[in-house]
Amino acid sequence: MSDPKTFFLDEEEIPFEEGQTIIQAALTAGKYIPHLCYHPEFKPHGSCKLCTVRIDSRTVTTEDGQSVKIPGRAAASCTTPAQAGQHVESEVPEILDLRRTLVQMLLVEGNHYCPSCEKSGKCLLQGLAYDLGVMDPHFPQYFSKREVDASHPDILLDLNRCILCELCVRASAEVDKKNVFAISGRGNTKHLICNSESGELGDTNLAATDKAANVCPVGVILHKRHGFEVPYGQRRFDKAPISDNPVQYAPVKEQV
Ligand code: SF4
Ligand code: FES
Repeated sequence: MSDPKTFFLDEEEIPFEEGQTIIQAALTAGKYIPHLCYHPEFKPHGSCKLCTVRIDSRTVTTEDGQSVKIPGRAAASCTTPAQAGQHVESEVPEILDLRRTLVQMLLVEGNHYCPSCEKSGKCLLQGLAYDLGVMDPHFPQYFSKREVDASHPDILLDLNRCILCELCVRASAEVDKKNVFAISGRGNTKHLICNSESGELGDTNLAATDKAANVCPVGVILHKRHGFEVPYGQRRFDKAPISDNPVQYAPVKEQV
Protein backbone atom coordinates (compact mmCIF):
# COMPACT_ATOMS: atom_id res chain seq x y z
CA MET A 1 0.00 0.00 0.00
CA SER A 2 1.37 3.40 -0.92
CA ASP A 3 1.96 5.97 1.83
CA PRO A 4 -1.00 8.25 2.34
CA LYS A 5 -0.17 11.70 0.94
CA THR A 6 -0.60 14.82 3.04
CA PHE A 7 -0.02 18.54 2.83
CA PHE A 8 -0.20 21.24 5.48
CA LEU A 9 -3.05 23.74 5.69
CA ASP A 10 -2.32 26.45 8.26
CA GLU A 11 0.12 23.95 9.83
CA GLU A 12 -2.50 21.19 10.09
CA GLU A 13 -1.80 17.98 8.20
CA ILE A 14 -4.45 17.26 5.57
CA PRO A 15 -4.65 13.92 3.73
CA PHE A 16 -5.48 13.92 0.04
CA GLU A 17 -6.01 11.57 -2.84
CA GLU A 18 -4.10 11.91 -6.08
CA GLY A 19 -5.93 14.33 -8.37
CA GLN A 20 -7.70 16.24 -5.60
CA THR A 21 -7.41 20.00 -5.51
CA ILE A 22 -6.44 21.81 -2.29
CA ILE A 23 -10.03 22.87 -1.62
CA GLN A 24 -11.42 19.38 -2.23
CA ALA A 25 -8.98 17.82 0.23
CA ALA A 26 -9.51 20.60 2.79
CA LEU A 27 -13.30 20.38 2.67
CA THR A 28 -13.18 16.59 2.86
CA ALA A 29 -11.05 16.95 6.00
CA GLY A 30 -13.60 19.37 7.49
CA LYS A 31 -11.50 22.50 6.94
CA TYR A 32 -13.37 25.45 5.49
CA ILE A 33 -11.80 27.51 2.72
CA PRO A 34 -14.10 30.34 1.57
CA HIS A 35 -15.52 29.84 -1.91
CA LEU A 36 -18.28 31.17 -4.13
CA CYS A 37 -17.89 29.73 -7.62
CA TYR A 38 -16.67 26.30 -6.48
CA HIS A 39 -19.32 23.61 -6.24
CA PRO A 40 -18.39 19.98 -5.72
CA GLU A 41 -20.72 18.79 -8.47
CA PHE A 42 -19.10 20.89 -11.17
CA LYS A 43 -15.69 21.41 -12.70
CA PRO A 44 -13.82 24.21 -10.91
CA HIS A 45 -14.33 27.57 -12.51
CA GLY A 46 -11.73 29.76 -10.82
CA SER A 47 -13.50 33.09 -11.25
CA CYS A 48 -14.34 34.42 -7.77
CA LYS A 49 -10.84 34.02 -6.28
CA LEU A 50 -12.33 33.83 -2.77
CA CYS A 51 -10.56 30.50 -2.29
CA THR A 52 -7.12 32.07 -2.78
CA VAL A 53 -4.39 30.67 -0.53
CA ARG A 54 -0.63 31.15 -0.27
CA ILE A 55 1.58 28.20 -1.08
CA ASP A 56 5.04 27.50 0.27
CA SER A 57 6.02 30.79 1.92
CA ARG A 58 9.56 30.65 3.33
CA THR A 59 11.31 32.35 6.19
CA VAL A 60 14.92 33.34 5.50
CA THR A 61 17.54 34.85 7.75
CA THR A 62 19.21 37.98 6.42
CA GLU A 63 22.92 38.80 6.87
CA ASP A 64 22.11 40.95 9.90
CA GLY A 65 20.27 38.06 11.53
CA GLN A 66 16.69 39.23 10.84
CA SER A 67 14.01 36.68 9.96
CA VAL A 68 12.17 37.71 6.81
CA LYS A 69 9.14 35.95 5.39
CA ILE A 70 9.16 35.49 1.61
CA PRO A 71 5.51 35.03 0.64
CA GLY A 72 4.77 31.95 -1.43
CA ARG A 73 2.67 32.14 -4.56
CA ALA A 74 -1.00 33.04 -4.30
CA ALA A 75 -3.24 30.49 -6.01
CA ALA A 76 -6.91 29.60 -6.28
CA SER A 77 -7.27 26.49 -4.13
CA CYS A 78 -10.16 25.23 -6.27
CA THR A 79 -7.95 24.84 -9.34
CA THR A 80 -4.60 24.01 -7.72
CA PRO A 81 -3.81 20.32 -7.22
CA ALA A 82 -2.79 19.24 -3.72
CA GLN A 83 0.83 18.14 -3.53
CA ALA A 84 2.58 16.15 -0.84
CA GLY A 85 4.47 18.27 1.68
CA GLN A 86 3.04 21.56 0.38
CA HIS A 87 2.54 24.30 3.01
CA VAL A 88 -0.70 26.17 2.40
CA GLU A 89 -1.76 29.32 4.26
CA SER A 90 -5.45 30.24 4.30
CA GLU A 91 -6.42 31.84 7.63
CA VAL A 92 -3.61 34.40 7.66
CA PRO A 93 -4.16 38.18 7.82
CA GLU A 94 -2.87 38.92 4.34
CA ILE A 95 -5.17 36.35 2.68
CA LEU A 96 -8.17 37.33 4.84
CA ASP A 97 -7.61 40.97 3.77
CA LEU A 98 -7.53 39.95 0.13
CA ARG A 99 -10.80 38.03 0.54
CA ARG A 100 -12.42 41.01 2.28
CA THR A 101 -11.43 43.22 -0.66
CA LEU A 102 -12.86 40.74 -3.16
CA VAL A 103 -16.17 40.62 -1.27
CA GLN A 104 -16.25 44.44 -1.12
CA MET A 105 -15.69 44.60 -4.88
CA LEU A 106 -18.54 42.18 -5.51
CA LEU A 107 -20.83 44.03 -3.11
CA VAL A 108 -20.37 47.40 -4.87
CA GLU A 109 -20.44 45.94 -8.39
CA GLY A 110 -24.04 44.78 -8.00
CA ASN A 111 -27.06 46.14 -6.18
CA HIS A 112 -26.84 44.02 -3.05
CA TYR A 113 -29.51 45.68 -0.96
CA CYS A 114 -29.78 42.76 1.44
CA PRO A 115 -32.68 44.05 3.60
CA SER A 116 -35.05 43.71 0.64
CA CYS A 117 -33.53 40.54 -0.87
CA GLU A 118 -35.27 37.20 -0.45
CA LYS A 119 -31.89 35.44 -0.27
CA SER A 120 -30.78 37.41 2.79
CA GLY A 121 -29.74 35.00 5.54
CA LYS A 122 -29.02 32.16 3.11
CA CYS A 123 -26.84 33.99 0.56
CA LEU A 124 -23.23 32.80 0.25
CA LEU A 125 -21.94 36.29 -0.58
CA GLN A 126 -23.64 37.84 2.45
CA GLY A 127 -22.59 34.89 4.63
CA LEU A 128 -18.98 35.37 3.57
CA ALA A 129 -19.14 39.12 4.18
CA TYR A 130 -20.32 38.50 7.75
CA ASP A 131 -17.77 35.77 8.31
CA LEU A 132 -14.87 37.88 7.03
CA GLY A 133 -15.96 40.91 9.05
CA VAL A 134 -16.66 43.16 6.07
CA MET A 135 -17.94 46.32 7.77
CA ASP A 136 -18.21 48.75 4.85
CA PRO A 137 -18.22 48.75 1.03
CA HIS A 138 -14.88 50.64 0.86
CA PHE A 139 -15.26 51.23 -2.92
CA PRO A 140 -17.77 53.59 -4.60
CA GLN A 141 -21.07 51.94 -5.45
CA TYR A 142 -21.36 51.06 -9.15
CA PHE A 143 -25.21 51.14 -9.23
CA SER A 144 -25.72 48.58 -11.97
CA LYS A 145 -28.81 48.99 -14.14
CA ARG A 146 -29.55 45.52 -15.41
CA GLU A 147 -32.94 44.07 -16.26
CA VAL A 148 -35.21 42.27 -13.88
CA ASP A 149 -36.76 39.47 -15.94
CA ALA A 150 -40.16 38.33 -14.64
CA SER A 151 -41.26 36.70 -17.91
CA HIS A 152 -41.08 33.10 -16.61
CA PRO A 153 -44.16 31.79 -14.81
CA ASP A 154 -42.19 30.37 -11.86
CA ILE A 155 -38.78 32.04 -11.80
CA LEU A 156 -37.68 35.64 -11.39
CA LEU A 157 -34.24 36.92 -12.43
CA ASP A 158 -32.67 39.99 -10.82
CA LEU A 159 -29.45 40.35 -12.76
CA ASN A 160 -28.30 43.27 -10.61
CA ARG A 161 -27.15 40.73 -8.03
CA CYS A 162 -25.27 38.40 -10.37
CA ILE A 163 -21.67 37.61 -9.36
CA LEU A 164 -20.93 35.76 -12.64
CA CYS A 165 -20.03 32.52 -10.89
CA GLU A 166 -21.54 30.66 -13.86
CA LEU A 167 -23.00 27.96 -11.63
CA CYS A 168 -26.34 28.32 -13.43
CA VAL A 169 -24.57 28.17 -16.81
CA ARG A 170 -22.71 25.01 -15.81
CA ALA A 171 -25.80 23.42 -14.22
CA SER A 172 -27.96 24.08 -17.25
CA ALA A 173 -25.37 22.76 -19.70
CA GLU A 174 -23.96 19.84 -17.72
CA VAL A 175 -26.92 18.61 -15.64
CA ASP A 176 -30.14 19.84 -17.25
CA LYS A 177 -28.68 19.61 -20.79
CA LYS A 178 -30.65 22.72 -21.76
CA ASN A 179 -28.11 25.56 -22.10
CA VAL A 180 -30.64 28.07 -20.79
CA PHE A 181 -27.97 30.50 -19.54
CA ALA A 182 -24.76 31.93 -21.01
CA ILE A 183 -22.39 34.81 -20.39
CA SER A 184 -22.09 37.68 -22.83
CA GLY A 185 -19.96 40.85 -23.00
CA ARG A 186 -16.48 41.65 -21.73
CA GLY A 187 -14.99 43.52 -18.81
CA ASN A 188 -17.57 45.37 -16.77
CA THR A 189 -20.24 44.81 -19.44
CA LYS A 190 -20.04 41.05 -18.89
CA HIS A 191 -23.45 39.76 -17.93
CA LEU A 192 -25.70 36.73 -17.81
CA ILE A 193 -28.04 36.15 -20.76
CA CYS A 194 -30.85 33.71 -21.48
CA ASN A 195 -30.64 31.62 -24.63
CA SER A 196 -33.95 32.43 -26.27
CA GLU A 197 -34.70 34.49 -29.35
CA SER A 198 -36.32 37.22 -27.28
CA GLY A 199 -33.60 36.99 -24.64
CA GLU A 200 -36.31 36.47 -22.03
CA LEU A 201 -36.28 33.65 -19.51
CA GLY A 202 -39.96 32.93 -20.17
CA ASP A 203 -39.08 31.88 -23.72
CA THR A 204 -36.56 29.25 -22.59
CA ASN A 205 -37.46 25.73 -21.49
CA LEU A 206 -36.18 26.26 -17.91
CA ALA A 207 -38.27 24.36 -15.36
CA ALA A 208 -38.43 25.37 -11.71
CA THR A 209 -37.14 21.91 -10.78
CA ASP A 210 -34.02 22.21 -12.97
CA LYS A 211 -30.64 22.24 -11.29
CA ALA A 212 -29.97 25.64 -12.88
CA ALA A 213 -33.03 27.08 -11.17
CA ASN A 214 -31.78 25.97 -7.76
CA VAL A 215 -28.05 26.55 -7.77
CA CYS A 216 -27.60 30.34 -7.60
CA PRO A 217 -25.60 31.20 -4.45
CA VAL A 218 -26.99 34.76 -4.34
CA GLY A 219 -30.36 36.40 -4.98
CA VAL A 220 -30.53 36.33 -8.78
CA ILE A 221 -32.56 33.23 -9.65
CA LEU A 222 -35.55 33.32 -7.35
CA HIS A 223 -38.71 31.23 -7.19
CA LYS A 224 -41.88 33.24 -7.53
CA ARG A 225 -44.45 32.90 -4.73
CA HIS A 226 -41.71 31.73 -2.31
CA GLY A 227 -40.34 34.76 -0.54
CA PHE A 228 -39.38 35.51 3.04
CA GLU A 229 -40.77 32.19 4.26
CA VAL A 230 -38.13 31.60 6.94
CA PRO A 231 -38.37 33.92 9.97
CA TYR A 232 -35.38 36.05 10.97
CA GLY A 233 -33.26 34.12 13.41
CA GLN A 234 -33.98 30.82 11.70
CA ARG A 235 -32.41 31.44 8.31
CA ARG A 236 -29.43 29.34 7.29
CA PHE A 237 -26.68 31.73 8.36
CA ASP A 238 -28.63 33.12 11.31
CA LYS A 239 -28.16 29.72 12.91
CA ALA A 240 -24.47 29.22 12.15
CA PRO A 241 -21.78 31.21 10.38
CA ILE A 242 -20.83 30.10 6.90
CA SER A 243 -17.45 28.78 8.10
CA ASP A 244 -19.15 26.38 10.53
CA ASN A 245 -20.10 24.15 7.64
CA PRO A 246 -16.93 23.43 5.67
CA VAL A 247 -18.73 22.29 2.55
CA GLN A 248 -20.83 25.25 1.48
CA TYR A 249 -22.56 23.70 -1.45
CA ALA A 250 -24.54 26.23 -3.37
CA PRO A 251 -27.87 26.79 -1.66
CA VAL A 252 -30.09 23.91 -0.80
CA LYS A 253 -32.92 23.20 -3.18
CA GLU A 254 -35.77 25.68 -2.89
CA GLN A 255 -39.32 24.58 -2.31
CA VAL A 256 -41.10 24.72 -5.66
S1 SF4 B 1 -27.34 33.99 -11.86
FE1 SF4 B 1 -26.54 33.22 -9.92
S2 SF4 B 1 -25.67 31.22 -10.47
FE2 SF4 B 1 -25.93 32.36 -12.38
S3 SF4 B 1 -23.95 33.37 -12.75
FE3 SF4 B 1 -25.25 34.84 -11.65
S4 SF4 B 1 -24.77 34.53 -9.48
FE4 SF4 B 1 -23.98 32.74 -10.56
S1 FES C 1 -13.96 29.12 -5.43
FE1 FES C 1 -11.97 29.14 -6.31
S2 FES C 1 -12.01 30.83 -7.64
FE2 FES C 1 -14.06 30.74 -6.90
